[in-house]
Amino acid sequence: MHDNKSPETMEQLREQIATLQRQLVDAQRSSALGELVGTTTHEFNNVLMTIMNYAKLGLRHQDAASREKAFSKILQASERAAEITRTVLGMARNRSPNFEKTQIADLIRETMLLLDKEMQKYRIAVELEIHDVPAVPVIANQIQQVLLNLLINARQAMPQGGRLVIRLVQDVAAQTVDLVVRDYGVGIPPECLQRIFEPYFTTKKGPDASGTGGTGLGLAACRSIIQAHQGKVRVESSVGKGTCFTIKLPMRREEKLEMPLAAALLKSPVSADHASKS
Ligand SMILES: Nc1ncnc2c1ncn2[C@@H]1O[C@H](COP(=O)(O)OP(=O)(O)O)[C@@H](O)[C@H]1O
Ligand SMILES: [Mg+2]
Repeated sequence: MHDNKSPETMEQLREQIATLQRQLVDAQRSSALGELVGTTTHEFNNVLMTIMNYAKLGLRHQDAASREKAFSKILQASERAAEITRTVLGMARNRSPNFEKTQIADLIRETMLLLDKEMQKYRIAVELEIHDVPAVPVIANQIQQVLLNLLINARQAMPQGGRLVIRLVQDVAAQTVDLVVRDYGVGIPPECLQRIFEPYFTTKKGPDASGTGGTGLGLAACRSIIQAHQGKVRVESSVGKGTCFTIKLPMRREEKLEMPLAAALLKSPVSADHASKS
C-alpha cells in the first residue's frame, strides 16, 4: 500500500521490517519443520519395516545363527530410529535460542542423517569435505535450517541425480568459517540470480513429490538468518553447470554491531555480495 502523505520515520520503517523478517523466519521454520516431518515419517517407516521383517525372520528360523542375525539387525534399526527421533525432537524443541559456540561439522552430520535416504532416493552422491575448523557462535537450529534449505534446493536442481559437495573450511584472512554447498545441477540464469533471495520468489510449480519447495521462502529465510549472524552469503551459478552457495560465519560476534535485522538489511544488502560466473 502506498501512502503519499507524511512518510513514516526511518526508525518506524526499520522496526516494521525487523518484525516482518522475524515473521518470515518463523513462517519458514514451520514450513521447514513440516517438510522435515514428511521426510522423517517416511524414513521412520522404512526402519519399522526392517524391524518387522527381521522379527518375522527370527520367529520363523529358530536356529541360533538366524536368531542372532535377526536380533542384531533389529538392534541396529532401532538405534537408527532412536537417532532420528532425537534429532527431530532436538530441532522441534528449538535447542538453544541463543548464540553458542558450535561445531558446524556436527550440524552437517545431523542434517545428513535426516536427508540420507532422500538423497539416495534421488540418486544424489553427497561428498563431505569437512576440515578441522574452530567452533563458531551461532544459533544452531537456525544454521541447520539454512543448511536444510540449501541441500533441498540443491537436490531439486538435480532431478536426474548428480553430485553434491558440502565443504567446511576456515578462511583465516577473513576470520570466518565457511560452509559451502555446491551442486552440479541446472544452475540459475542471471536474471533470476538477482531475485532468488526475495521472499516468495520461486521458479518451482509447488511442492515436489516429497512435499518440499515452491514457497520461495527458503533463501529469504537463509538471508535473514545469516544477517542476524553477521555473516555473508555468496552465490555463484552457471546455467547447465551448477550452483555454489557459500555461507561465511564470523568466528567472533561483534557486540557493538548488534542491531535489529532491519537495520542490518538496510546497511549491508547481501545482494551486494552476489557474484555470477555465468
Ligand atoms: N541450488 C539451486 N540450483 C538452481 N536454482 C536454485 C538453487 N537454489 C535456489 N534456486 C532458485 O531460487 C529460487 C528460490 O529458492 P527458495 O527461496 O529456496 O524457494 P523455493 O525452493 O521454494 O522455490 C528457486 O525457486 C530456484 O529457482
Ligand atoms: Mg527452497
